[in-house]
Amino acid sequence: MEFAAKITGTGSAFPERRMTNDDIARELTKFGLETNDQWIRERTGIVERRISNVENEAELNSSLGAQAAQRALEMAGKTPEDIDQIIYATCSPDTALPSTACWLQQKIGARRAWGMDINAVCSGFVFGVVTAEQFIRSGYSKTVLVVGAEVLSHFINWQDRTVCILFGDGAGAAVVEKAPARLSRRILSSYLSCDGTLSKLLYVPAGGSAMEVTPDVYAQNLHKFRMNGRELFKVAVRTLTECALRTLEQARVPAVKLDWFVPHQANLRIIEAVANRVGISMEQVIINLDRYGNTSAATIPTALDEAIRDGRIQEGQTVLTDAFGAGLTAGAMVFRW
Ligand code: UT7
Repeated sequence: MEFAAKITGTGSAFPERRMTNDDIARELTKFGLETNDQWIRERTGIVERRISNVENEAELNSSLGAQAAQRALEMAGKTPEDIDQIIYATCSPDTALPSTACWLQQKIGARRAWGMDINAVCSGFVFGVVTAEQFIRSGYSKTVLVVGAEVLSHFINWQDRTVCILFGDGAGAAVVEKAPARLSRRILSSYLSCDGTLSKLLYVPAGGSAMEVTPDVYAQNLHKFRMNGRELFKVAVRTLTECALRTLEQARVPAVKLDWFVPHQANLRIIEAVANRVGISMEQVIINLDRYGNTSAATIPTALDEAIRDGRIQEGQTVLTDAFGAGLTAGAMVFRW
């Protein structure tokens, strides 16, 4: 291959409203259901999450994505007109059509770019960066904007206590650029996978063409997340570990040589189990789920952005990202920042 791809800028954005575990506990009592801050912290590591007000144009998925994109472009020293291609990873688009990439393009004024959405749910950002890398390595694109953004609160059944405690809204972005093939600062390896036989572990039955949202369907909350949390937990630990080990091996980076691990932020216990199996110390793990919960495609780019901006991730360091999500999709990537 003649070219490689490197990440040159990151950005993130969150809605203003904070919802604490106590706020959720209060909401649930209205339906005669119980939870509490201690249970949620101990079982998930989550303390609070952000919730979008979609009546506020500034907190739509594409608007949060646009803010994150502008910050990423600024860090990369690029303007919106430098972007050739937009890849928008989301499972909670502004509209069924057009794509959220098109809404974002208009908002940031990326006039030269073409764009598309991809839906790999929580693995979306990793899928997006690996897709960007392929377009760059083939010579088709030079500068790609990858966004991972979600307004998942819209798809939550607030009477399902195993689901509503987990998720939050937010957006992260990265600028991925063409680099010489042997540049040290580049994406070193990646591995993507899907297992469609596990689709029903986490899915939204209605709202697509398979099932219209009729009043009856609406009353049964079939347009909201359905999740088998316990089973997903086990599959997540196994799959994340496998993806991490494969990707590290492919990059010829032993776990002890890794500087940082940026995993998908679904549950702190999942992250600890995977870090332990892969041989990574928890001091090297970037965590933001305590403050934002599981923001699906946004977890990895927002955690990455925070650690780059606060100086934990330094130039020349090697980073592993690792995600799993509904599908069941999974993907990992090793890169040098
Ligand atoms: O991006 C992918 C997104 N999804 C995930 O990653 C989900 C992965 N799974 C998980 O994170 C965990 O399975 C949960 C946090 C969802 C649940 O934790 P758990 O330790 O697996 O709990 P459990 O489902 O085994 O339930 C244990 C008990 C049950 O009560 P009984 O049957 O033992 O009496 C639940 O009814 O905890 C109860 N429970 C709760 N209690 C208080 C379930 N949710 C709650 C709650 N508050 N919110």
